[in-house]
Amino acid sequence: MYAFTIDAADTAALHRDLLHAADALTAGEPDGVANMANVAALLWQYLPDLNWAGFYRMVGDELVLGPFQGKPACIRIPLGKGVCGTAAASGESQLVADVHAFPGHIACDAASRSELVVPVIRDGAVVAVIDLDSPSPARFAAVDQAGVEAIAALLATRIG
Ligand code: SME
Repeated sequence: MYAFTIDAADTAALHRDLLHAADALTAGEPDGVANMANVAALLWQYLPDLNWAGFYRMVGDELVLGPFQGKPACIRIPLGKGVCGTAAASGESQLVADVHAFPGHIACDAASRSELVVPVIRDGAVVAVIDLDSPSPARFAAVDQAGVEAIAALLATRIG
């Protein structure tokens, strides 16, 4: 398997290490499900204070649950609904400090307090979103958004 050196002391360094690990895990592997599964596991394992980490994929005109770690979750999310549907509809990352204050937030797990959703964009179209949830308010910062956006860019051509 792959050997990682993950620096958890410095968040920017942690994200650089996660990007390199995501690259090593998915390079040359054409199976998108395998790649999403490994990246979901990677983020879940090394980002502290999460209660959910994974993918929703654009299928037709809605998001459908993809590989993830955490509790079983909502399966289908209409475009424009909730944090994930908003990210998918706008093509913009959603960094939500307080999910209770987000209109239309979909509570798959009542423990979630903050959320980061980053679209995966290929050829100008959203093909998936990466969703991270935390039980802590304001868990995610700009450095987390930048780190996950770099992973999303890497995965654009690697998730099928
Ligand atoms: N909270 C999300 C739904 C997905 S779950 O958190 C896994 C949302 O509002 O889109």
